[in-house]
Amino acid sequence: MHQVLNKNISPLKNFDIKKIREDFPILSRMVNGKPLVYLDNAATSQKPQVVIDVLQNYYQNENSNVHRGVHFLSDRATNLYEEAREKIQKFLNAKSTKEIIYVRGTTEGINLVANSFVKPRLNEGDNIIVSLMEHHANVVPWQLVCDEKKAKIKIIPINKKGELLVDSLHGLIDEKTKFISVVHISNSLGTINPINEAIEIAHKNNIPILIDGAQSVCHGSVDVQKLDCDFFVFSGHKICGPTGIGALYGKEKWLEEMPPYQGGGDMILQVTFEKTIYNDLPYKFEAGTPNISGAIGLGTALDYVQSIGYENLHTQENLLLKYATEKLSKIDKVQIIGTADNKASIVSFVMADIHAHDVGTILDQEGVAVRAGHHCTQPVMDYFGVPGTARASFSFYNTLEEVDILEDAVKKGIKIFLG
Ligand code: ALA
Repeated sequence: MHQVLNKNISPLKNFDIKKIREDFPILSRMVNGKPLVYLDNAATSQKPQVVIDVLQNYYQNENSNVHRGVHFLSDRATNLYEEAREKIQKFLNAKSTKEIIYVRGTTEGINLVANSFVKPRLNEGDNIIVSLMEHHANVVPWQLVCDEKKAKIKIIPINKKGELLVDSLHGLIDEKTKFISVVHISNSLGTINPINEAIEIAHKNNIPILIDGAQSVCHGSVDVQKLDCDFFVFSGHKICGPTGIGALYGKEKWLEEMPPYQGGGDMILQVTFEKTIYNDLPYKFEAGTPNISGAIGLGTALDYVQSIGYENLHTQENLLLKYATEKLSKIDKVQIIGTADNKASIVSFVMADIHAHDVGTILDQEGVAVRAGHHCTQPVMDYFGVPGTARASFSFYNTLEEVDILEDAVKKGIKIFLG
C-alpha cells in the first residue's frame, strides 16, 4: 500500500501533516484499490472529525427548531445557531451579526443580492459589470435580472495568463453602471484577483460591489471591513463545513434598504392580510426553518481551520502549488491553463487533445480525484480555446507525495492515450 506521508521538506513548525490528515477520516479510505488522493478541494473540501461529530451530536442530542420554541432544546438550538453566526461575523470581521445572512451557499447569496438589491435599482439600458473568469453562479443571476430589466452585462477581460485586467474597469464603467460583481479567486484558473483595486475603482465611481469568495475563504483570511466591499459571499462546504450552508455579508445600510428575498416564517414581525411587518436584520432574509445543523457545523469548521493557522495553511498550499506546477509543466504534452503570478493552490491542465473527462477517469483509476470539465466557467474555457481542463486543487491536508502520485498517474494516462 502506498504511504501518503509528508516528504519532510515542509518548512513549517507546529504543522504535523500526518496528524492533520488523521483529523479527516475520509483521507485514509481506498478508491479503486488505491489510497484516495483527494485533489478536488475547489469543488468541496473534506470534513474533519470535529465537524462530523458536531453534526451527529446535534441530531442525537440537541435537535430542535430555532427562534420558535420556549422549551429547553429550542433554546439550546437557537443559541448554537446564533453562536455560529457570531463565529462567521468574527471570521469575516463584519461589524455586526446583523450583516451576516445565512444562505445555502455562494449561489444563493448572489441570487439574493441580484434580486433584492440590484433588480430594484436597475432600469432599461443600465449595465452590470462582471469578469470573464466568473463562475456561472456569478453570471447567470445577473443575466436573469438584466433580461427582465432590459439591462446588459459588461465583461472585465483577462490576459493569456488568466489574470484580470482590472484597469479596464475604468473604461467599462459609465453612468449606467449599477453594480459590479467579481470573483476573489478563480475556481478554474486559481488566479487571485486584485479585488482591493476593483473595490477602490467601484467606490470612486459610487458603484456597489460584490466579491464572490467561494474559493477564497479556504485559502486565507478575509476582512470585509478592510476590503470595504459592499457584499461578500462564501459557501461553508469549501472550508471544511457541511454542504447547504454559507453566508452572505452585506453592509448594514444596504441590507436595511433591501426588501426580503423570500417570504415565510421567521422573516416577519407581524402578519395580517392587510400588511406584513418584516423582521429585523438578519432574520428578514431568513424565511423558513433554516439549515440549523449546517450553521453549527460551519461554525465548528471555521474554528478548526483557524486552529491550523492561516500562515501554516498558506505555506503548505503554496508549497503544493509550486511543486505541482513544477512537476506538471515538465511533462511533455501537458499544458497548464492559468499561469497568473498570483495564484491559489489550483492547477488546471490539458493533456494534448485528450478529453478532460478521459483524463479524470484515468486519474480516478489511480485513486486520484480531480475535477474534469468546464468547471462551470464556460467563458473561461472558450477564451483559452479548450472544451475543458483537468483540475487539481489542493488543500492544506494534501501532501507532496500526493503530487508525485498525480504526476505518475498523468504520465500513465499519456502512455495509454498517446502510446
Ligand atoms: N464551484 C465548484 C468547483 O469549482 C463546484 O468545482
